[in-house]
Amino acid sequence: MCGIIGYVGEEQARPRLVAGLQRLEYRGYDSAGIALADDELSVFKQSGLISDLDLPAETPQTCGIGHTRWSTHGKPTDANAHPHTDCSGRVAVVHNGIIANYDDLRSELPDHEFRSETDTEVVAHLVEEALEHTDDLRAAVEAVVERIEGSYALGVVAAGYDGIVAARRNSPLVVGHGTDGNFIASDVTPLLEHTRSVSYLEDGDVAHLTRSGVTVRHDGELVDREVTTIEWDADAAEKAGYDHYMLKEIHEQPTALRQAIAGRIDPIEGDVDLGDLSLSEAFLSDIDEVQFVACGTSYHACMYGKQLVEHLADVRATVEFASEYSVGSGRDPERTLVVGVSQSGETADTLRALRVAKRSGIRTLGVTNTVGSTMARECDDVVYIRAGPEIGVAATKTFASQVVILALFAVTVADERGELDPTAGRELLEHLQNLPGAVQGALDRDDAVEEVADAFADGDAFFFIGRRFGNPVALEGALKLKEISYDHAEGFPAGELKHGPLALVTEDTPVLALLTAGTRPDETRNNIKEVQSRGAPVVAFTAPDDDGDYEVGFDVPDLGLIEPLVANVYLQLFAYHVADDKGRSIDRPRNLAKSVTVE
Ligand code: F6R
Repeated sequence: MCGIIGYVGEEQARPRLVAGLQRLEYRGYDSAGIALADDELSVFKQSGLISDLDLPAETPQTCGIGHTRWSTHGKPTDANAHPHTDCSGRVAVVHNGIIANYDDLRSELPDHEFRSETDTEVVAHLVEEALEHTDDLRAAVEAVVERIEGSYALGVVAAGYDGIVAARRNSPLVVGHGTDGNFIASDVTPLLEHTRSVSYLEDGDVAHLTRSGVTVRHDGELVDREVTTIEWDADAAEKAGYDHYMLKEIHEQPTALRQAIAGRIDPIEGDVDLGDLSLSEAFLSDIDEVQFVACGTSYHACMYGKQLVEHLADVRATVEFASEYSVGSGRDPERTLVVGVSQSGETADTLRALRVAKRSGIRTLGVTNTVGSTMARECDDVVYIRAGPEIGVAATKTFASQVVILALFAVTVADERGELDPTAGRELLEHLQNLPGAVQGALDRDDAVEEVADAFADGDAFFFIGRRFGNPVALEGALKLKEISYDHAEGFPAGELKHGPLALVTEDTPVLALLTAGTRPDETRNNIKEVQSRGAPVVAFTAPDDDGDYEVGFDVPDLGLIEPLVANVYLQLFAYHVADDKGRSIDRPRNLAKSVTVE
């Protein structure tokens, strides 16, 4: 998730772009840049914060675009910072999203010299090529977006061309209608000091902004996009109108999940492409163990990953708390792979575990959200989850994205080992593609979850139970609730309840139970009877045709092994609303930090 701003009007563009980028910095902050256009194009960009941008004293131009980056392709370097330009230095592009087919598009431009590792740069070269057939930048961008697969919010300027051309698909872009000019931005945050009149572009729209007006086309036809008035203040705008970053990030999951899989699944062939990994077929066929290491929420994602790898790839997989990791005896380093999972890529315990593995000669793979993090730099291989910045201390959207990447990893390992059952593989990939829609379905029931949370918020303690693929999600549901509500919450494999924790169950201890596919629901139903007979109310997450007797039930659509990820969204919303009822500091819970850089 990056931040985009653009301005064309009566005033100098540069102060507006820089101030706008500072407002958008929460969307990404590893590199920044602006492009100013009149008869010539001037581009200033570098890694680091917006305040570090090296700009000349005089910049009279009144048209420009800017970008603050959260890396998804390529490290946070000067070359990878946006805006990106074509070979002639005439066209500049800023982009938020993922161009899934950028590799193919690059190979269609053999005469073009590329200067970055980003997916975005190809757009500048495609626009350059399109401008050989038309003088009209808008028509050129319209031709280019026809060729792009994936998600994009684009801002494009060119030397000698009047105004900004903007386009969007599956990535937000707002137009601001000011009195002295017009704006584009990723969200309304940077616009509020200039105007409260905005219109939201729709998927497939291409807009042309000049100092005097804005026109929007869809499929080549002029369309009207309603101008609305924003009532939010800047703080609410940064949270997109949600009361907390955590709630906003829970709601960002469909987008984050689409970004995680963009360009990585070939649904026709049933193939997965996780990028340039050095893990060879020979190595993966020969390993006899995959060891997952992580902490907290990332550890729960690893528990899920372990089960997926064992299920699909027929290889032993283990998961260890990173702080407890040691290589252990009886392992052949040459035939072991350690996978570290970390949102921040900076968690000291996880880095320590990976270093211990490396010192023993074990190959390491990092799965992280943070390009350029210590984990990304130190591991032999890295895969990014592309969830965008997560500001709330409690991890939410990154959990689902981590599990999705581990599912793709499991398919890759199974395939390389010749163990992949093609039907099972294809089914999982199809379910992964349907996951964003199913998660949206759960988010749409937020009001119903809030009612349940209000009803049970005063419980003495909360228990979360699930088996198999439901177990990591039960643990994650409990962690989320205890972190932000400060209530006593525990997650258990459902079968363990009767071996001790059942002693704590009373009518004041709500039990949240996962009964979706892949969680052995029939067995868990027995455990539900055990708690109900002690008076505990049960909130169950079930298949739609489950007619069991629960105090509250939520349906989860058929997504096979990844159904618990949809139930997890309900659990996140439940935790959020219980904590909100209690007036807790949801984005910054007491005693906790977002990135734990001490052991
Ligand atoms: C829970 C949470 C923590 C982190 C843990 C690991 O909501 O945020 O438990 O998951 O500190 O952090 P990363 O993933 O950055 O290594």
